[in-house]
Amino acid sequence: MGQAEPLGDRLRVLPSAPGPAGDGAFSIGPLDRSRVRAVLAVISGKGGVGKTFVTALLAAEFRREGFEVGVLDADVTGPSMARVFGVGDVPKLTADGLSIEPLRTRGGIFVMSMASVTAASKVPLLWRGPMVNSAIRGLYKDTRWPSLDYLLVDLPPGTSDAPMTVFQSLSPDGVVLVTAPTGLSAEVVAKAALMAKTFRAPILGLIENMAYLVCPHGEQIDVFGPSRGSEYAQAMGVPYLGSLPLGTGVPALADAGRLEEFQSPVGDLLARRVRLLLDRLSSAGRPSAPPAGAPRPPAPGG
Ligand SMILES: Nc1ncnc2c1ncn2[C@@H]1O[C@H](COP(=O)(O)OP(=O)(O)OP(=O)(O)O)[C@@H](O)[C@H]1O
Ligand SMILES: [Mg+2]
Repeated sequence: MGQAEPLGDRLRVLPSAPGPAGDGAFSIGPLDRSRVRAVLAVISGKGGVGKTFVTALLAAEFRREGFEVGVLDADVTGPSMARVFGVGDVPKLTADGLSIEPLRTRGGIFVMSMASVTAASKVPLLWRGPMVNSAIRGLYKDTRWPSLDYLLVDLPPGTSDAPMTVFQSLSPDGVVLVTAPTGLSAEVVAKAALMAKTFRAPILGLIENMAYLVCPHGEQIDVFGPSRGSEYAQAMGVPYLGSLPLGTGVPALADAGRLEEFQSPVGDLLARRVRLLLDRLSSAGRPSAPPAGAPRPPAPGG
């Protein structure tokens, strides 16, 4: 049997990969965030509502605006970020052998995902919570991120280990909630909102994904009935950021590893709204950096 052979080999790429007993299982203190100006977590609690899509869409738009952007795939047992961004290589160790170089998309987004260190493996990771915790922390701290304006964290469904680890380790400056346009989804997302509030993570607002479909001749079809995103957000006590339509090209681009290329006016608008809200929160403690290539303001007193 192929057993754990491909998995074991790849996992050794991660310097602090958890040992069989889940080393470091309960060390969920804060991690060093000095190289990242703002951390944004994308969460829903519910599966399949478009967290990964929204994370990719926001990251791509932030990058198009000229910012240094990283994406951390915190879905360690069902990672998809490397796949949808088409970064299939195994990451290299840094020259000192102490860290991993993040992978880079064609557009210049830095990515780290468990899929990258288990790339050739079809073996599922049968990990209990402490190992998930340890792996997420390892993916973040063992990666030699460059100075980033924004680190976006794509979370798996659920309200347990992964989001708890991210909230405690990375203290996100903002959280975006994603729901599908159904009451069932919104009920689960409401729990994720409560979770974020419990961890005092600032909620930027709710995005309703797959809210409607626009036909080629412009007609809008409310596939799941009239949009209730605003109503859902109000019930959760969070701002409503907006609704995204079903994009017919999205799954094909994701499957082809080219999701970064997806762009829509409504997506751009939403991303800009998210970024401005995030900046308002994150600039309180850290100075705001201008886009790469943009003239930097003179240093105070100079
Ligand atoms: N607005 C959209 N238009 C068209 N397809 C979409 C849209 N949003 C997501 N999808 C597709 O729906 C599927 C699920 O989306 P995605 O993987 O982003 O959900 P998720 O919430 O991250 O799922 P999981 O809980 O498994 O992590 C994917 O195939 C994705 O390409
Ligand atoms: Mg996902």
